[in-house]
Amino acid sequence: MLALGLVALLSVLWCVCSHWRDVLSGRPVGALRGVRAPLLLIAHPDDECMFFAPTILGLLQEQRPLSVLCCSTGNYYNQGEVRRKELFQSCAALGIPASNVTVIDHRNLPDSPNVHWDTHLLSDLILTHIKQKNIDLVITFDEKGISGHSNHISLYHAIRSLHDSRKLPEGCSVVVLESVNVFRKYLSVLDIPISWLFHSDILYISSKTQYRQAKDAMMCHQSQLLWFRHIYLLFSRYMAINSLHFLHGQKTEKDS
Ligand SMILES: *[C@@H]1O[C@H](CO)[C@@H](O)[C@H](O)[C@H]1NC(C)=O
Ligand SMILES: [Zn+2]
Repeated sequence: MLALGLVALLSVLWCVCSHWRDVLSGRPVGALRGVRAPLLLIAHPDDECMFFAPTILGLLQEQRPLSVLCCSTGNYYNQGEVRRKELFQSCAALGIPASNVTVIDHRNLPDSPNVHWDTHLLSDLILTHIKQKNIDLVITFDEKGISGHSNHISLYHAIRSLHDSRKLPEGCSVVVLESVNVFRKYLSVLDIPISWLFHSDILYISSKTQYRQAKDAMMCHQSQLLWFRHIYLLFSRYMAINSLHFLHGQKTEKDS
């Protein structure tokens, strides 16, 4: 009886949240005013659609020219060449042409959960790319790296050091994707009211169509589609919701 009630309650909540998603999608909170050239900075092929799809699709919907810098080929299981191709396919499915996607393949930046990438090397490579492409907004992981992968966290430290040492070009700001606790992480759309209540600088919620597009992009990563990835697709909040925060010290500049 209790279980039945719980299922009924969850179903109702799910419907309410799905409705909320339709209302809220396409209306980002705290839109990124005046951004000309945003860059998505990721560690592995599949980070873009597993974690950042709502942001990517939101930015593209706002007609912002987007580029992607991926700092490894995802070669942990020696599948680097395949995974690099999958990244280009996935980006195309999301609406980003191959010419806007760059993959770094550096022997000192291996895809590995046990390796912390060298902050100096990484930040030099990232800064060069930012300058080349005239980037004025970098989007990347926060200090917990969503899944806790040390390569994700290395990206945060690299961008943090560029930011704190004021090496980023004038007017270039940074937003990081908020890591939520494991309970919220798998609530899917049920996390919409929670994300709405907690403060974030930017909140992107995907519409049903955008969710499907993100799923199609995920399907491009054939080499990664083990059974647990399908569960992830169903329940991960990151397929539907992205909450982001400006790195401290930049927000007021941008707003003024
Ligand atoms: C790709 O990059 C170019 C050059 O920065 C830009 O004009 C274009 O809008 C970008 N495409 C997308 C889909 O973001
Ligand atoms: Zn990753």
